[in-house]
Amino acid sequence: MKLTVQHKPMNLVRWQPITISKSNFLKNNLGIVRKPYLCGSMSSNIVVAIDGYSSCGKSTLAKALAKKLHFVYVDSGAMYRAVTLYFLRHGVDILSPKAVSEALQNIHLDFHAKDYETHITLNGEEVSDEIREMKISELVSPVSALKEVRTEMVKQQQRMGTSSNIVMDGRDIGTTVFPHASLKIFMTADPKIRAERRYKEMIAKGDSISLEEVFENLAHRDYLDTTRAESPLTRAEDALILDNTELSPNEQLAFALEHVEPFLKK
Ligand code: DC
Repeated sequence: MKLTVQHKPMNLVRWQPITISKSNFLKNNLGIVRKPYLCGSMSSNIVVAIDGYSSCGKSTLAKALAKKLHFVYVDSGAMYRAVTLYFLRHGVDILSPKAVSEALQNIHLDFHAKDYETHITLNGEEVSDEIREMKISELVSPVSALKEVRTEMVKQQQRMGTSSNIVMDGRDIGTTVFPHASLKIFMTADPKIRAERRYKEMIAKGDSISLEEVFENLAHRDYLDTTRAESPLTRAEDALILDNTELSPNEQLAFALEHVEPFLKK
């Protein structure tokens, strides 16, 4: 599999603290965190790893943070989704490691970061919308559980972290892809709230789907993602926990900025 990332150069780190009182923020909103997170980075780049359950706002936070810091943003889930789309279109037998490995050789993913929105092409075709459809959500967890797929994805993702400051979201970023990330955040939220948020997004896009179907899909994916053999979704010991059930996007961003700040000053 080949993967290319096209981003504007973003070496300049311009961080402006946003105004939110830390004490109020912690008192009112955080039922959460409590671990020191300094774990040192292996490279000189700053890597922020954001992991967590399905539809708990990882990409919203990751995008906002990358935008604020002028870091590269990588949505690792989009990669698994694009591979799933390829497998679906080509009828790849996911029970056959040989077929899976061969298929991976024929996949070229290309990320274009435009306004910090993920635009991904699969063998030259823009598939950013199609990979969000339910037909992909229903298959992506079994595909992303395959050893061959994970090995390839992790290799590509690690490569991206060697050349730029980066914010990457996913399921195994802090545990497997970047175990030495500067900052690790593990996101969670009430499953009902997550389903409602996702449902509203899908309805706004014109999908016809029920809240129950969305809820079932999230629950099923969480189950598969946390129980699979290959790098299951789990919180890295040194990850900060961010439960955003009752947090606004700005509060979440303030939380992340506050914790990444020490690395920016180095
Ligand atoms: O973040 P998302 O919902 O778009 O991710 C889709 C699926 O991809 C998710 O159900 C599990 C898988 N995934 C993964 O296994 N590892 C990652 N780093 C990112 C996503």
